Amino acid sequence: MTDTHPSPHHATAPDEAAHGIAKGLPDYGDRGFSLFLRRAFIKGAGYTDAALGRPIIGIANTASAYNPCHGNAPQLIEAVKRGVMLAGGLPMDFPTISVHESFSQPTSMYTRNLMSMDTEEMIRAQPMDAVVLIGGCDKTVPAQLMGAASAGIPAIALITGAMLTGAHRSQRVGACTDCRRYWARFRAGEIDAQEIADVNRQLVASVGTCSVMGTASTMACIAEALGMTVPGGASPPAVTADRIRVAEQTGAQAVAMARSGLTIDRVLTARAFENAMRVLLAIGGSTNAIVHLTAIAGRMGYDIDLEAFDRMGRQTPVLLDLKPSGAHYMEDFHHAGGMATLLRELKPLLHLDALTVTGRTLGEEIERAGPGFAQQVVRPLERPIYPQGGIAVLQGNLAPGGAIIKQSAADAALMEHEGRAVVFENAEDLARRIDSDGLDVTQADILVLKNIGPKGAPGMPEAGYIPIPRKLARAGVKDIVRISDGRMSGTAFGTIVLHVTPEAAVGGPLAHVRNGDRIRLSVRERALTLLVDDQELARRASAYPVAVPRADRGYRKLFLQSVTQADQGVDFDFLRAPVTRARLPASGAWHDAACPPAPPSLPGAMPEAGLRAARTSADPPSAIPPTAP
Ligand code: FES
Repeated sequence: MTDTHPSPHHATAPDEAAHGIAKGLPDYGDRGFSLFLRRAFIKGAGYTDAALGRPIIGIANTASAYNPCHGNAPQLIEAVKRGVMLAGGLPMDFPTISVHESFSQPTSMYTRNLMSMDTEEMIRAQPMDAVVLIGGCDKTVPAQLMGAASAGIPAIALITGAMLTGAHRSQRVGACTDCRRYWARFRAGEIDAQEIADVNRQLVASVGTCSVMGTASTMACIAEALGMTVPGGASPPAVTADRIRVAEQTGAQAVAMARSGLTIDRVLTARAFENAMRVLLAIGGSTNAIVHLTAIAGRMGYDIDLEAFDRMGRQTPVLLDLKPSGAHYMEDFHHAGGMATLLRELKPLLHLDALTVTGRTLGEEIERAGPGFAQQVVRPLERPIYPQGGIAVLQGNLAPGGAIIKQSAADAALMEHEGRAVVFENAEDLARRIDSDGLDVTQADILVLKNIGPKGAPGMPEAGYIPIPRKLARAGVKDIVRISDGRMSGTAFGTIVLHVTPEAAVGGPLAHVRNGDRIRLSVRERALTLLVDDQELARRASAYPVAVPRADRGYRKLFLQSVTQADQGVDFDFLRAPVTRARLPASGAWHDAACPPAPPSLPGAMPEAGLRAARTSADPPSAIPPTAP
């Protein structure tokens, strides 16, 4: 693998060498006047010259009344500011778009790229020497990492943290695996309206993100595996003292990064992405995360090779015993030592020389975390909860660009299966007919849902978790093979094939599946096969050509013109790095010698989060001198 391009970014602002308040001035044709004017305005808010002389740490504030997953953002911002001030910086928080799963129509994925553009451009537009990204709910961490990757300055992620679990009639419950479990029981007539109303009050016991290994928890773990959080930044629940301490440490670390010039391209390296892929597989993480990771990697000039990722999966067991693949919740993971416990077990499979936001390597951070202790949540490598990675990649004539299945959350009895297709043309068709007593469906059939891909819905909604038809649910059926070009929530479970690429809406083979066609799924062979010959498929394609969705104006027009397929991360084509550096993972080897080595641990690494880094002569030229006390 070659890595000849020092940076994926083209933009070189004329004042790139400027720091703090002098950075990124508006263009009036007179830089002195621009700075004079800026200082005049900010002094209107009561700032002194001493404050304005410090490194500026931007804090992306994603608090929103519509986003209870970020309900602790005000407390986090207060703690980040404390950390920044203690380390000699000036904190400046600024608002960005905030996206919550249940308050984003048509789907949160539709606005992820918009949030990433907001994040990138506000980092670029406003003077800041480093940025703290406060995110947590499913799409916010990916959007922020995508935007920050493109903006290119020092950046550090601060996760809002998981919600606490609740209890319903002495049963521990948490969003949202249990949401689906109880709703499925209600649909099947196993529980009544009173009980479903009662459990509705208990599923989300506090602010914070979903409490299982859904997309939010997965992206929190991935952010730490990428080296983008302080050590231990992934697992503390939202309402704990540990989470607040992480916030303070994050603020202090951001100042150290601003001073040492630790830009995001030194952290988001090929090796960091390979570590993140390992972790995704080993935690039985959300299928959505592979889309997000692809999008983040694309911003740095890396493509994700799904077949190589699958080979990596065959060598990476699931170690984390969390719902929906296992039994526990995020707060249990935190009590078990969080990511340090997992990374310690995964050590033989990781690139230990990948640099993190602390200026130390991942291997150094694992050592600093100390020895492990007895716990029940993270299994040792030799005793995994599932022998392969949580996600398998399927190929075949139904998905020439690939499809995925979360095998660790699927029914083993259905992973080798051939059945008759029962087809729904789109989400509306599904809603109209899925509960009809007249629906011609049996447990042996395969449900196929079209037109919920990136352009189809649009936004690739999490409708891939097709409900069990009511007549089958009432008969006690708990799982059935389901196939779509959409996504599903990371909290969901079942034998569900997702991300079929190319999607139906752009004329992929999925568009031409008909009721009664036979489909064969073999997870063992990684095959998804439509048992219809090529001539017949070509005949159907020419008789019924697909009209690709378009829009007349606005964001929807931009989205439909620019969104890429699942294997490209569902990012906008114009937001990817202009140069492709490599395809990842580079090979399935534990340690890939072809992978470019990570930069060495920075001399300015903080001995402990919260302490000021000493500047050394090895710091890059753009590094900021320490503030005079
Ligand atoms: Fe926000 Fe689940 S809805 S993390």
